[in-house]
Amino acid sequence: MTYARILGTGSYLPEKVVTNDDLAQIVDTSHEWIYSRTGIRERRIAAEGQTTCDLAEQASRAALAAAGCEAGDIDLIIVATTTPDRIFPSTACLLQERLGNRGAPAFDVQAVCTGFIYALATAEKFLRSGSAQRALVVGAETMSRIVDWNDRSTCVLFGDGAGAVVVGMDEEFGIISSHLHADGTYKDLLTVAGGVSEHPEILRNGGAHILMRGNEVFRMAVTTLDNIVEEALAASGLDRKDVQWLVPHQANTRIIGATAKRLGMSMDQVIVTVDRHGNTSGASIPLAFDVAVRDGRIRRGDTVLMEGFGGGFTWGSILLRY
Ligand code: ACO
Repeated sequence: MTYARILGTGSYLPEKVVTNDDLAQIVDTSHEWIYSRTGIRERRIAAEGQTTCDLAEQASRAALAAAGCEAGDIDLIIVATTTPDRIFPSTACLLQERLGNRGAPAFDVQAVCTGFIYALATAEKFLRSGSAQRALVVGAETMSRIVDWNDRSTCVLFGDGAGAVVVGMDEEFGIISSHLHADGTYKDLLTVAGGVSEHPEILRNGGAHILMRGNEVFRMAVTTLDNIVEEALAASGLDRKDVQWLVPHQANTRIIGATAKRLGMSMDQVIVTVDRHGNTSGASIPLAFDVAVRDGRIRRGDTVLMEGFGGGFTWGSILLRY
């Protein structure tokens, strides 16, 4: 049996830190309100002119170095993003040019907060089918560009950042199972309505902002994530106690806590970065994973469950031995 295994990880955060108190200067909110409902203390915001691809490039270079690879060794590039630099070419193509890779297939995946799970599961299928040997999989976002900075109910939630992994084949360890789902009937609960085709006028007027029915999203996220855990364990034949680490999408500590409880995990086994990063959508899982690898919590051979839930709705999980 061979597995698609993460060979190296990297991440990057913009320099500018925006605290809850900073936000209270812009909108009618407070640190107490934000922290008690979301667990967020601060987030990073990209500098003017700094793009999703800029963040992706830094995270990718770190992941390539950690994996001991050159850009030329990569034969598949997938970027999960909901905030691409341009409508086209894809951010993956822009990243490919930056890294100096030529010829590898490069494309973006749009599954919002579940984007990295979709991208990594896709890369795994390329690798296991023999269509690629070494993939660069990135989650990168500048959510600050689609946030309405006058809307206190959403602007306090999001942040910018990028995470990346290099994946190759291994005889012993790697991805054990992956599960992807979507249900488009929930399209209006969490959306940016402005786009190229349906509402180009919103895009033209600069009004393409995140709209969210927070309570309903919260309820759906908690119920769905319960099912994700069950599905991953059933498919892998593993027991709850076999999972050493949970690397969840970082939206909200209350949602994360509910999933950890379902797994019977203590919060010490859950990688939480939402307090410092906010919700970085498709970047949040690889960012959190890289943080925990680099600070020595997640070690080679550890069993890790990654899970995500986001706009669409989309949801999914990846269970792996690192
Ligand atoms: N500061 C102060 N007051 C606020 C703020 C704010 N930043 N935002 C909203 N309020 C007010 C509202 O106006 C409302 O006031 P009202 O009662 O006078 O009308 C009151 O607070 C309660 O608003 P709710 O929306 O009911 O607040 P709730 O307790 O549900 O918390 C939250 C909102 C944190 C968004 C919650 O619904 C949640 O966590 N939802 C999950 C959604 C999520 O995390 N989405 C991220 C993207 S999706 C994903 O990544 C999975």
